[in-house]
Amino acid sequence: MNNKIKSKKTTGFMKSNYIRAFLKKYKFNYLLGVISLIVVDIAQTRVPIIVGSVIDQIESKNFHMTLISSVIIKLVSISIAIYIGRIAWRFFIFGTGRSIEKDIRNDMFLHLEKMSSRYFQDNTPGEIMAYMTNDLEAVRMVLGPGILFLIDVLAMGTITLYSMIVQIDPLLTLAGVVPLLLIAVSVRIMGRENRKRFRNKQEAFAELSKFVQEQLTGIKVIKSFVQEEKTIDAFERNVKRTYEKNMHLIKIQSLMHPFMQFISGLALAVAIGYGGYITIKQRITLGDFTAFIQYLSMLVWPMVATGMTINIFASGAASLERVESILNEPVEIKDSENLSNIDTLLGSIEVKNLNYKYPNTENQVLKNINFKIEKGQTLGIIGRTGSGKTTLVTLLLRLFDVDKNTVFINGEDLLNIPLKLLRENIGYVPQDNFLFSDTIKNNIDFGVRKGEMDKIIEAAKDSVVHENIIDFKDGYETVVGERGVVLSGGQKQRISIARALIKNPEILILDDSVSAVDTDTEEKILKHLNEKRKGKTNIIIAHRISTIQNSDKIIVLDDGKIVESGTHKELVHKKGLYHSIYEKQLLEKMLEEQK
Ligand SMILES: Nc1ncnc2c1ncn2[C@@H]1O[C@H](COP(=O)(O)OP(=O)(O)OP(=O)(O)O)[C@@H](O)[C@H]1O
Ligand SMILES: [Mg+2]
Repeated sequence: MNNKIKSKKTTGFMKSNYIRAFLKKYKFNYLLGVISLIVVDIAQTRVPIIVGSVIDQIESKNFHMTLISSVIIKLVSISIAIYIGRIAWRFFIFGTGRSIEKDIRNDMFLHLEKMSSRYFQDNTPGEIMAYMTNDLEAVRMVLGPGILFLIDVLAMGTITLYSMIVQIDPLLTLAGVVPLLLIAVSVRIMGRENRKRFRNKQEAFAELSKFVQEQLTGIKVIKSFVQEEKTIDAFERNVKRTYEKNMHLIKIQSLMHPFMQFISGLALAVAIGYGGYITIKQRITLGDFTAFIQYLSMLVWPMVATGMTINIFASGAASLERVESILNEPVEIKDSENLSNIDTLLGSIEVKNLNYKYPNTENQVLKNINFKIEKGQTLGIIGRTGSGKTTLVTLLLRLFDVDKNTVFINGEDLLNIPLKLLRENIGYVPQDNFLFSDTIKNNIDFGVRKGEMDKIIEAAKDSVVHENIIDFKDGYETVVGERGVVLSGGQKQRISIARALIKNPEILILDDSVSAVDTDTEEKILKHLNEKRKGKTNIIIAHRISTIQNSDKIIVLDDGKIVESGTHKELVHKKGLYHSIYEKQLLEKMLEEQK
């Protein structure tokens, strides 16, 4: 199963229930916008009739000064109505487009926050960013300009045609309009191609974003392996592809507009020929004739706007699909139906016959895992790299889901524990120690957000990083990663530990969290843990025996299986894998000391 965001067949923008709900929510704004727009359109289409009547009166020598002032008053009133109406529709229609854009963006982020780790493995941040910017913009274009053009095309087209047919001459209207219909037909045909090319362009753009995001994240690796040139080549290929897709789209769009202008010129020629003829024959007046020419040029805009509207709607439909594919992505990890009603979580953990494969993979990462620890005990986990240590603890946090009846916390099936309760009661120090580009203070306070400085300092002291922090010029206010403040691996690890400790969680999980600190500092941290975590459960993953030797229970993982378990003493006696790791590390230590 491939879970990547994909474009399917476009189903049409207005058919989407999601969009309809927004249209309903903002119906009064749209209604006011549409009314203002129609007022503007009616006002505009009055002008040719007024000008026509002036011409007729001049021709019949009936024209006198009192008429001039009434014409001026009419024209000025029309201008004022158009002026106010245009401000109003801009505000109501464009403004509403922006409001909906804001709502959708919030919806998308909210939904993304619920997605599982699996989802973010399949969809990279770069791609998701492209959907949240480029595609959302295309959707907004429909909700603002798209809807405006659509209404304008319909209102302006209808009113103009009505004036031409009823007030001037039906046959002449037919002669002028038939060529213009060619515009609508050709636009319809080209619109399909346009939509396809637009979708390709957006996909190429998403690829490009993904590429840039990844390369910039890995810039240090690129530089240290002197791969800049190769990376630049690959970037250029990516840019070229996006450029080609863009050009492909522009080609069809640039064909459309001049074609429309050509056709409208043709229509004008027909109208002048036939209209001139019937004016000479006095079937219509000179005023009618000039009014008709003006109307005909007024019809060109609705025809052109038809093309633009179709483009906007086509692009919007393709983009909406991608936006909705994010919104409709099911939440994989959520509270179960038969949720337990516990409201506190105690840290006893039992794992029974746990087997695990990552989603969409074949590799059995954990094999028949069984162990039990009581509340207040410390579990040490050791094992070769890739043996499944991190996997085991991320499963406890439900970052990925296990089968029913395999993991129990507090005697409850893990899957039935309210997700919020579970995660609030676990303090997790991930192996990669991610910190946000915020102050050290806020990074430590991240899980509690109370801003209690004494607690923050206490946590930092317990994780033996306080002394480092106060050495920075801005102390706890130092912003991580800014203005040259780059934290060392060990500092990051200890800030991550402080972030977990400040929660005073029932279960604390340290995933290889002291690997980058020296053994003296490690000893201090472990001593603090021993004092502060009395009665609470700890899981400590390590590669060094020294980190876990005092644990109540130690399990040794190898290739996804528990190969040994017991206390340090028991395991050393067993002379198995644990013993051989122990011997090796003792030897290393001795050699180290001899230096
Ligand atoms: N998100 C993932 N999707 C698929 N496979 C994964 C994923 N994470 C880890 N694996 C695989 O699961 C196995 C166990 O990985 P895990 O990270 O649990 O090992 P580990 O014991 O923590 O290793 P280390 O000591 O290097 O941290 C590895 O074979 C790894 O390739
Ligand atoms: Mg690991």
